[in-house]
Amino acid sequence: MAPQLKRVPSAWTGAVLVCGKCSKKLDGGFGKKGRAPLARMLRKIMGLKKGRKATLGVVETRCLGLCPRDAVAMIDGRAPGTWLVVPRGADVVELAARLEQERSGGAGPVDAS
Ligand code: FES
Repeated sequence: MAPQLKRVPSAWTGAVLVCGKCSKKLDGGFGKKGRAPLARMLRKIMGLKKGRKATLGVVETRCLGLCPRDAVAMIDGRAPGTWLVVPRGADVVELAARLEQERSGGAGPVDAS
């Protein structure tokens, strides 16, 4: 008999995948000094709790295969058909607001442009 799957509850309403390798290449790339990684900035601005207690998962991944120049590749798991390229120094507050809208069922897919 196959082992039973264990189910673990989570508060996540979606997952955002942020390329950690892009962030590393930019040496952060965001925030006042341009040294903060995008995923950390998003979590902070959106006031997300840690792990599965967060209402939205923001996860740093390995290379997503897009490898944009001077930017970070990102996928909003709620709209995986359109990948996002977030340029270095982009307005993360605005990006977080758009992700927030998406979370509350507001506007269409997030557009990082
Ligand atoms: S390094 Fe980020 S997508 Fe490849």
